[in-house]
Amino acid sequence: RDEDSMTEAAANDAGFDPGRVLVIIPTYNERENVGWIVPAVLAAAPVDVLIADDNSPDGTGQLADDLAADDARVHVLHRPGKQGLGAAYLAGFAWGLERGYDVLVEMDADGSHRPQDLPRLLAALGDADLVLGSRWVPGGSVVNWPKSREWLSRGGNTYARRMLKIPLFDATGGFRAFRADTLRAIDLATVDSQGYIFQVDLAYRVLERGLRVVEVPIVFVEREHGSSKMSRSIVGEAMWRVTVWGYHLRTGRSVAGQQ
Ligand code: GDD
Ligand code: MN
Repeated sequence: RDEDSMTEAAANDAGFDPGRVLVIIPTYNERENVGWIVPAVLAAAPVDVLIADDNSPDGTGQLADDLAADDARVHVLHRPGKQGLGAAYLAGFAWGLERGYDVLVEMDADGSHRPQDLPRLLAALGDADLVLGSRWVPGGSVVNWPKSREWLSRGGNTYARRMLKIPLFDATGGFRAFRADTLRAIDLATVDSQGYIFQVDLAYRVLERGLRVVEVPIVFVEREHGSSKMSRSIVGEAMWRVTVWGYHLRTGRSVAGQQ
């Protein structure tokens, strides 16, 4: 292990060895994607992978079990049913923290987050407590997204930035790397965001703790297989939570319920 870390550190331009890294991939009906994304992630960086599957009706969980049986770096967390992205990540974080991983990465299963960008995210963690893969900073972009989806993301991020007074351009994105200590420093027990607003909730908590958040540009490529789980209720939850948090911020209350 010591020798390994030294080779990894030497290979890393920034001279930063992230230690043991767990990439958590939440899945719901991603049968056409898990089979290729997992090997692609393993080839991109020295990491373990945890698939957090919500009992997908299409059999994603079984396929994930087959991948885990073939490779000791792959693990599967079977959850009883569709409970949202937030709950899947919280369970994945708990799994990884219990097992002593030093870095926990969030990544979508559908290829929108390119495995080749993973080493850059990890390297940036040398000077940060949380690294966000960002579509909306110079060098970042989105490929094959309908204009409607682009404006939803840009608008949502602008609303969050202004309401919460945060210096982030892509607080809703789901390709990010946390130091384990960062997750330990925020109060995960009080997180009850369920949909994609979970991402903003966590980024806010990290900033509120005075920790360093860095945005690294990424190219987000819309999926080719399967379908997005974005829904009106996910957008609705995001809008009301950001509005309530913004109100709490302006009335001097604890914003996301963190002590
Ligand atoms: N376990 C589990 N449970 N996984 C889920 C659930 C759920 O309830 N909902 C979604 N996922 C998984 C999907 O299977 C996929 O791997 C990942 O979460 C992202 O879901 P998509 O449905 O592909 O999201 P998107 O492409 O529409 O949204 C992207 O943009 C959002 C807004 O910026 C993603 O990058 C999101 O992470 C991001 O918040
Ligand atoms: Mn997607």
